Amino acid sequence: MIIPPSVKLAPSILTANFGRLAEQVQAAERGGADYIHLDVMDGRFVPNISFGPLLVEAVRGFTTLPLDVHLMIEEPERYIDAFAEAGADLLTVHVETCPHLHRTVQQITDAGCRAGVALNPATGLETVREILPFVDMILIMSVNPGFGSQRFIETATNKLRRMKQLIKRYNPTADLEVDGGIGVHNISDIVRCGANVIVAGSAVYNSHAPIADNIAALRNAYADANIQTI
Ligand code: DX5
Ligand code: ZN
Repeated sequence: MIIPPSVKLAPSILTANFGRLAEQVQAAERGGADYIHLDVMDGRFVPNISFGPLLVEAVRGFTTLPLDVHLMIEEPERYIDAFAEAGADLLTVHVETCPHLHRTVQQITDAGCRAGVALNPATGLETVREILPFVDMILIMSVNPGFGSQRFIETATNKLRRMKQLIKRYNPTADLEVDGGIGVHNISDIVRCGANVIVAGSAVYNSHAPIADNIAALRNAYADANIQTI
C-alpha cells in the first residue's frame, strides 16, 4: 500500500520580490505549497534585519495557507502576542534565545499558536530533550540563520536522523522541520532522514523558473523518498 505524501513544503518569502509579494505568495499557494514560511530577523540574534508583525499581517491577507513564522530574534517573548494577533499559525523560537524556554513555549500555546523550537547548526540536541513533549515542531537549521541562498551544512542530515529518533520516542506527533540550503539536489536525502516540513527559499523564489514549476520540481525530487510500503 502506498501512503500518500505527508511531507509539507514551506516556501520562505525571504528571497521573494517584496514589490510583488501578494502575487508571489499566491503563486506559491496555487503551486501547491503547504505553508508560507516567514523569517523574522532582528539584527541582533542574526546579522540581518527583515520584517515584523506588520508584514505577517499583510501576508495573512493574501493567503489562506498556515503561516509558519520563524523568529530569529532576541527576547522573542516580547513579541509573541503581536505575531499571534498578526495571524501566525505556528511560531518558532530559537533555543539559543530562550533562558525560560518552557515558559516561552507555553506563551505561544496560550496565544493560540502551534509552538516550534529551532536549533542552530552548532547547538546540540540535548538542549531540546526536556521541552520536546511540549512542542508541536522542532526546527533543525541547516545553515547559520540570517540569510537566504546559503550552502547546506552536510552534518545536518545526521542531526536530523538523531532528532527523528528522539521525536519518535518522546513526542511522536511532533513535526520535524529543516531550513536552509535545500533544493532539488538534496531534498530527497533530507526527507529520508525523517524531516517532514521542508523550508525552501531560493529554490522556490528565484529568477530561473516560475514559482509553481520550482515547487513541482522539489516535490518530484523527493517523491521516491516519500513513498513507503507497509
Ligand atoms: C535563513 C532562513 C531561511 C532562508 C532559507 O536564516 O531561516 O528560512 O530563507 O533560504 P534558502 O532556502 O535559500 O537557504
Ligand atoms: Zn527560516
